[in-house]
Amino acid sequence: MITLGIESSCDDTSIAILQDDAKLLSMVCKSQVELHKDFGGVVPEIAARGHSEAIFDILQKALSDANLTMKDIDLVAATAGPGLMGPLLVGLTMGKTLAFKHQKPFIGVHHLEAHFSANFLTRPDLEFPMIGLLVSGGHSCIYYIKNAGEYKLIGETRDDAVGELYDKVARNLGLGLPGGPFVDKMASQSHESIPFTPPLLHSKEVEFSFSGLKTQALIAIEKSLDKAHIAKGMQDAVVKVLLKKTLLAVQNYQCKTVIIAGGVSANSQIRSEFEVECKKRKLNLSYPDMKYCTDNGAMVARAGYDRYQMGYRSDLNIDAFSRMSLEDLKKGSLWKKSS
Ligand code: KG4
Ligand code: ZN
Repeated sequence: MITLGIESSCDDTSIAILQDDAKLLSMVCKSQVELHKDFGGVVPEIAARGHSEAIFDILQKALSDANLTMKDIDLVAATAGPGLMGPLLVGLTMGKTLAFKHQKPFIGVHHLEAHFSANFLTRPDLEFPMIGLLVSGGHSCIYYIKNAGEYKLIGETRDDAVGELYDKVARNLGLGLPGGPFVDKMASQSHESIPFTPPLLHSKEVEFSFSGLKTQALIAIEKSLDKAHIAKGMQDAVVKVLLKKTLLAVQNYQCKTVIIAGGVSANSQIRSEFEVECKKRKLNLSYPDMKYCTDNGAMVARAGYDRYQMGYRSDLNIDAFSRMSLEDLKKGSLWKKSS
C-alpha cells in the first residue's frame, strides 16, 4: 500500500511517499526559514503564500523521486491541524483535491499524532502502553498512550513551549533560526554553565513552565555573560525538568516505554540524558530518526496509514483546525470509522 503524506502546518512544506508502514520511497522538504528571518518569527500570511508557491513542485519531485504517478497512490494523508490556519489550508486543500480528482481514500491527520508516529517509522518493537513526551515549537506536553491512537493528556506547559524558548533565546543571543539546533550546538561545546533554576522541578504535578527560563536567559544576556555558558545553563535546566516530569509520568502510569517526539526531540542533550536515565530504570526509550524530528511528510503518511488500517476515513469536507488536544480525536470530527 502506497501513502502520500502532506505537511504544511507551520513553516515547513513537506511531502513524502511511504510504502506500507515504514518504507520511505521519497521525501521532499522545503523550510521557509529564509522567508521569515527578518521578522523574528513565522508570519502566517507569508507562510501560507510560501507553501502555495512551493507545494506543486514538491509534489512533482516526491512523485518523480519515487518513480510513481498519482495513479500508484493508494491513500492521501494531509495534516489538518493543529497549526496555522492559512498554511494548513494549503496542504489540506491539496490533499483533498488530489484524493477527489484521483478517487483515492483520504485521511486528515492530527499533527501531534504524526509527531508520535515518527517513532514507529524506525521502531517496530515499541509496545503500548507508553508515555509520550511531545516537545516542539508550539507544544510541550506529556501523554499517556494506552494503545495505538488512545491518548490521555497528563500534563502540559502553563506558558511557552520548549521550542519557542529555544527560538527566543537564540534570537537574543544573535544566533540563527530556528534557534534550537544553534543553542544545542553552542551548549554542547561548553564545559561551563551559568546555573538556571529549572521551573516547577519540585512540584508533584506533571506540568511545565518555560517562560521563567526565557527571563533568566534574557537577564544573563543583558549582563553580557558568556553566551555558551548561558546556552549550557538553560539547556541543563530544560533537560532536567523534562526528564523529571517524564519519569514522574512513567511512575504514575506504570509504563515501560517512553517515546519523545517533536522538533525539540532532535536535541542532543535530551537524547543522551534520557538514554542514560531510561537505561538505569530498564525503560524502552525511543526518539525519531533525525530526519523525522522536525515537521515532515513521512510522519504524516505514517499517521494516516495507521488510521486507515484501523478503519478510519475522512470526508472531503473536513476543516483545518488551529487547536485540538489529541484526547479530542475521539470526538470524531476528523474521521468516520468504516465497519
Ligand atoms: O516540530 P517542529 O518542527 O515544529 C512544530 O510543530 O512546532 O519543531 C520546531 C522546533 C523549533 O522551535 C526548533 O528550534 C526546535 O524544534 N528544535 C530544537 C532542535 N532542533 C529543532 N530544539 C532544541 N534542540 C534542537 N537540536
Ligand atoms: Zn511539528
